Amino acid sequence: MILAIETSCDETAAALISDQGVLIQSTVASQIALHAPYGGVVPELASRNHSKDLPSLVEACLSEAGVSVADLSAVAATSGPGLSSSLLVGDTFAKALALARGLPFNSINHMEGHLVSPFLPFGSDPIPAHLALIVSGGHSLLIHVREIGDYEILGTTQDDAAGEAFDKVAKLMGLPYPGGPEIAAHAERGDPKAFDFPRSMVGRPDLMFSFSGLKTSARYQLEKLPQPLDETMRDDFCAAFQEAIVDILCAKVAQAAEMIDCGMVAVSGGVACNRRLRERLTQQEEQADRRLLLVDGKFSTDNAAMIAYAAYRRRLAGIAPSSLHQDINPSWSLAEPIS
Ligand code: KG4
Ligand code: ZN
Repeated sequence: MILAIETSCDETAAALISDQGVLIQSTVASQIALHAPYGGVVPELASRNHSKDLPSLVEACLSEAGVSVADLSAVAATSGPGLSSSLLVGDTFAKALALARGLPFNSINHMEGHLVSPFLPFGSDPIPAHLALIVSGGHSLLIHVREIGDYEILGTTQDDAAGEAFDKVAKLMGLPYPGGPEIAAHAERGDPKAFDFPRSMVGRPDLMFSFSGLKTSARYQLEKLPQPLDETMRDDFCAAFQEAIVDILCAKVAQAAEMIDCGMVAVSGGVACNRRLRERLTQQEEQADRRLLLVDGKFSTDNAAMIAYAAYRRRLAGIAPSSLHQDINPSWSLAEPIS
């Protein structure tokens, strides 16, 4: 049984996975309500609450699964990327437990967690080579995954991440934090053609993203509209903005999949639970005759199940555990070797 801890941002999470790759327990305590009044995550508040909540959360995770620390065969934690003070809480907790029990420790890259999350139902079955799209609050990544630990970053964002664009535009509109689910909910009732937004970087030969132009366009258009927006206008604005992001993501996925000539696409990260994105990708990939794996909605935003599964896949692949001297790395890129 592997115990994994995730505290890279504002979710305190623990999970247990069996030595056969079966998820046993996944416990998440969200700090959204704590940070909402500030319109974003306050790092000092986040780390102090991880420190306060993590011991009882781990206890609850173990006891709900009927597992004791004596049943653990390894401990894992997210060691980056993320907020340094938040990462330190989970990383240090996991290392202390590993040291006390004499267990192997795995330092896991948060983005590798997202990357393997669509494959959680696979258990110990092989993960085929594929194209991964990770769209979260901090990252927009297209990755050629050859095997666990062998990742080629094909494209990333030049400025804001897709989730960040959702959050910033929601803030401009006066919608609560986090803005992604808020915009998505309003978009359900809106007309995506009612406003015009740019599709930056689409049609270029490279696989880079840029979402800051979209945010600027949203600001200029909002300034010209009567405030506060009436309900129909707000729903239409959200639908048109969401459609632009979805168009860009779909176009880049198709371009990347053709470029590396792959038959499978896996999509993860907080934005991957966006209903419109899931619908459009499903249509597109069906037409292109590629297999599409969308992360289960409950594992799309931050959780420790994905960290446990990444640790499990590393152990299964025969990759050596990490040293307890391994530092956290707040800007750890997936392209950097993981020890
Ligand atoms: O993966 P995640 O939990 O955290 C990071 O690692 O960043 O992703 C959080 C992001 C936020 O920007 C949030 O607004 C966005 O995912 N998000 C969504 C939806 N649900 C969450 N964006 C669009 N539509 C959604 N339904
Ligand atoms: Zn994340």
